[in-house]
Amino acid sequence: MSEAVTKTTELDEYKGQIEAIVNQYSARKGALIAVLYETQNLIGFLPREVIHFIADRMHISVKEVYGIVTFYNFFTMKPRGKYPVAVCLGTACYVRGGRLVLDTIKKSLGIQEGDTTEDRKFSLELLRCLGACGLAPVMTIGKEVYGRLTPAKVKAILETYS
Ligand code: FES
Repeated sequence: MSEAVTKTTELDEYKGQIEAIVNQYSARKGALIAVLYETQNLIGFLPREVIHFIADRMHISVKEVYGIVTFYNFFTMKPRGKYPVAVCLGTACYVRGGRLVLDTIKKSLGIQEGDTTEDRKFSLELLRCLGACGLAPVMTIGKEVYGRLTPAKVKAILETYS
C-alpha cells in the first residue's frame, strides 16, 4: 500500500506571516527590499515559491524580485543551517592556515562553501576579514568567534555542536 506524502513547504508554513509583512510595508517606498528582508528573517532564506508569492502579492514582476535577491549578497535562496559556520579567508587568516581550516570543515561536514548540510544543522560560508586578525585563523559559528584554529581544534569545536 502506498501512502501519499504531503511535504509542508516554507510557503505553507509562513503564508499568513508573509502576507502580514507585505501588508505592513506595501504602501512604503522601497517596500520590496524591506519585505524580502523581513521574510528572510522569518524563514532564514528566500525559497523560490516564496519569491513568486511576494511578487504576486506586491504586483511586481518575478524578474524584478529575483533581480533584488541576486543583487544583494545579504539575500539567500538557500536555507542556512541552524549553526551557520563562516571561515575567514582574509589575508591574515589565509596566510596562517585559513585554507586548512576551511578544508577541515568541508571534510567534517561533507559540504562545500555556500551549502547547508541535509539536516539543516550547519551551513558554510566565507568571510573577508572579521577584524580579529590577531586571532587568525578565525571562524565563526553563529555569533561565536573562534580563533588560533588548527584542524584538531576545528574538529573539537564542531563536535560540541553535534
Ligand atoms: S583576516 Fe581574518 S580576521 Fe582579519
